Amino acid sequence: MDNLFNRKISKKDLEDFEMIGDGKDGEIYKVADDKVLKYFFKEETHQRELEAMKIGQTSDIMPRLYEFGDNYIVMEFVQGISLARHMKRHGYIDEEMTEKILFVLEEFKRLGFTRWDTEIRHMLMDENGEFKVIDHKRAFTSKSPVPTKLLKGMKKFGLTGEFLENVKNLNPELYDAWKKHK
Ligand SMILES: Nc1ncnc2c1ncn2[C@@H]1O[C@H](COP(=O)(O)OP(=O)(O)OP(=O)(O)O)[C@@H](O)[C@H]1O
Ligand SMILES: [Mg+2]
Repeated sequence: MDNLFNRKISKKDLEDFEMIGDGKDGEIYKVADDKVLKYFFKEETHQRELEAMKIGQTSDIMPRLYEFGDNYIVMEFVQGISLARHMKRHGYIDEEMTEKILFVLEEFKRLGFTRWDTEIRHMLMDENGEFKVIDHKRAFTSKSPVPTKLLKGMKKFGLTGEFLENVKNLNPELYDAWKKHK
């Protein structure tokens, strides 16, 4: 596959593209209808995220990885709304949604990640109603057997209790391990 970009890119190479997101570690540019480029401020963060994305390619919860250089990754553009936005818009988490969230966490485990957690703003629901998760730089550097970040994010919308009730029905053992984080 021909690369769209050189091994290392500068901000100048990106000036013709629209920036659709940014964060502490980089900026996200729309480079094709179905692709975004994440430009990293630090190569170390880039390495960590790339490693997790490569390993995650066997999973449907991971955006497709198309190409990369020293300081960028080109990946699938996930069109859809985040779990955060969903909760804000609808004000509930039903059992079906809970199952999908549990599936994401099981996939982290299956992939060998040590962080079995994510942020509600990093879970994006695609047009098929399935979650794809972005921002995996902490997949191997944090150790989280309990999804405390996720539960904390739900708390902001008053939905942790509802979510945990669903977990209790679906998987009582998990509920027992998580209930103290209500
Ligand atoms: N593959 C993608 N498809 C669609 N939107 C994306 C994608 N990747 C990133 N974004 C958008 O860009 C934003 C920032 O991306 P990301 O969280 O990866 O950056 P970051 O600098 O690592 O963030 P943080 O400050 O959380 O560490 C996301 O919240 C999302 O809105
Ligand atoms: Mg982020």
